[in-house]
Amino acid sequence: MPACPLCGGHPRNAPMTVQELKTKIITKLSNSSPSPKLDAEVLLMHCLNFSKTELLLKRDYEVPHEQQVWLNDAANRRSTGLPIAYITGHKEFYGYDFIVTPDVLIPKPDTEILVERAVDVILSMMDARSENLLTVCDMCTGSGCIAVAVAKTLLEDERVPAEQLPKFTLGDISEAALDVARRNVAALLGDGPDSSLILSRFNFVRTNLFDAISEAIKYDVILSNPPYIPHTMVDELLRDGRSEPRLALDGDITLEGDRATTDRGEPANDGLAIIRNLIPQTQAHLAPRGSVLIETGEYNAEATAEFAEGFGFNSEIHRDLEGQLRVVELY
Ligand SMILES: C[S@@+](CC[C@H](N)C(=O)[O-])C[C@H]1O[C@@H](n2cnc3c(N)ncnc32)[C@H](O)[C@@H]1O
Repeated sequence: MPACPLCGGHPRNAPMTVQELKTKIITKLSNSSPSPKLDAEVLLMHCLNFSKTELLLKRDYEVPHEQQVWLNDAANRRSTGLPIAYITGHKEFYGYDFIVTPDVLIPKPDTEILVERAVDVILSMMDARSENLLTVCDMCTGSGCIAVAVAKTLLEDERVPAEQLPKFTLGDISEAALDVARRNVAALLGDGPDSSLILSRFNFVRTNLFDAISEAIKYDVILSNPPYIPHTMVDELLRDGRSEPRLALDGDITLEGDRATTDRGEPANDGLAIIRNLIPQTQAHLAPRGSVLIETGEYNAEATAEFAEGFGFNSEIHRDLEGQLRVVELY
């Protein structure tokens, strides 16, 4: 029997079942992935549009040839270290399904506490001041996961009719990332009876921190998960196949895009250069009685809070679901 013209592998007409493909993918990934079984399941579920239950119940289903070719290619890409989310193009965050591409950081569970706290802060501001629409800025928005998760959670709360949804500004230095954020806003908030009103509340700005936003514009709430990982740690992560944009990770970068230096002229390596620029800029853009929520590493949360206190902010540090210091709240 001739080999398959598409993949050059198994014979053209030899059917493979879900179970056989799962075993094949697990074997292929066993030396390269820390989670070959989970990866095989996620790839099969994505490719076949199966739920986890269907994957179990339909293990004898014969997978059409084109999908076998896709799965073979996906397993090859995964074996190079490419994260599963970049292969499927999706990642769940805060219970919502986000589009992701290699231009954006893959949303992390660590960030969910920032969303949770932002929703609480916004709801209590809405209680206290009912007159004007609140304004929220998500700086360093990437995929837009923070702003979208906050907006969706607010809209699911019966106390927040669509008319009361705050105005959101999503800022990022990367136009490619902003494109992904636009797609997520459209996909997750662009459906339903109030969608045109809801979409009109979203504004996207390509900006280096706040440089493209006039100081006359003030926000009630500023949210940010900026790059905060120390430079040498990013080198290690990228060498270990983390495969996410350095621009989204490296915190030791100046506003000009260079490696930051310490007071003694040595290369900075605390991951805080972007945050040191961000904090005074948030202060300039914060409305009276406003709040700022910044995600940091567990290793630089206290230094971030201390730095912000030097600008007159009060601070509180929130732990993530794993108990790590994660979000610095400033007010
Ligand atoms: C850690 S990622 C966070 C992405 C997303 N908010 C999340 O939580 O998954 C940081 C983002 O900041 C953006 N960024 C890096 N430097 C920036 C700068 N100077 N100004 C604005 N955005 C910047 C990157 O493009 C990236 O999208």
